Amino acid sequence: MSRFDYHTALQSKNFSDFGIKGIKYFKSKKCVGFQYDFVESKSLSKEYDNVDFFYVEAPYPKGIKIFDERAKVKKQRGIEDFAKALNSIITKTRKPFAISTSKHLHNKLPTPKMRYQIKAYICELTFAIYNWEKNIQFKTTEQLMKYVAYNYKCVGDFCCGYGQPLFDFLKYGGQKIVASDHNDLCISVLKEKMENYEKNI
Ligand SMILES: C[S@@+](CC[C@H](N)C(=O)[O-])C[C@H]1O[C@@H](n2cnc3c(N)ncnc32)[C@H](O)[C@@H]1O
Repeated sequence: MSRFDYHTALQSKNFSDFGIKGIKYFKSKKCVGFQYDFVESKSLSKEYDNVDFFYVEAPYPKGIKIFDERAKVKKQRGIEDFAKALNSIITKTRKPFAISTSKHLHNKLPTPKMRYQIKAYICELTFAIYNWEKNIQFKTTEQLMKYVAYNYKCVGDFCCGYGQPLFDFLKYGGQKIVASDHNDLCISVLKEKMENYEKNI
């Protein structure tokens, strides 16, 4: 795994060690990326209006504080704040909404039709999907992204980190991405990765 494959709270080195500067917004051929704190706003910004499938890999409880510190968020926030914001977003959207995270956080979200383990890039996560009647179970997040690329036009991820599942979506022919993270350094990393990807298509 290279340094910017996946943004995990388990990473010991911080962005500043790599001399990266944060950015607030970028737009490329396939992607709009921007800094956005969904816990603070408890809703999604207008950039997400045209998304037709949401997928997020939300932090584990222990990761919340680490990610907040990295994003220089001053306010103390915990799993209850995260659950409140996610509940508000999930109940407002009519679009398919898939989320991989810890069982603990899942237990604080609306009850989905199905909840099961899924193999994500670095580990197994608990997966649930809302507003989706199909009876399909995905074994891996790559399989999910392949399905999304074939059946939907625009994927949205408001905990995008370095965008690993989003690059799977593109690999399978996915067209458009709306991505945000509260850490502007993630947006900078995503922009560079996206530009490199788009150079070669
Ligand atoms: C498990 S990581 C997601 C990793 C990502 N899928 C990747 O490929 O790198 C969770 C992400 O959520 C972001 N995050 C945490 N709290 C957030 C908040 N309040 N608003 C937006 N993003 C947040 C973190 O900065 C982190 O990048």
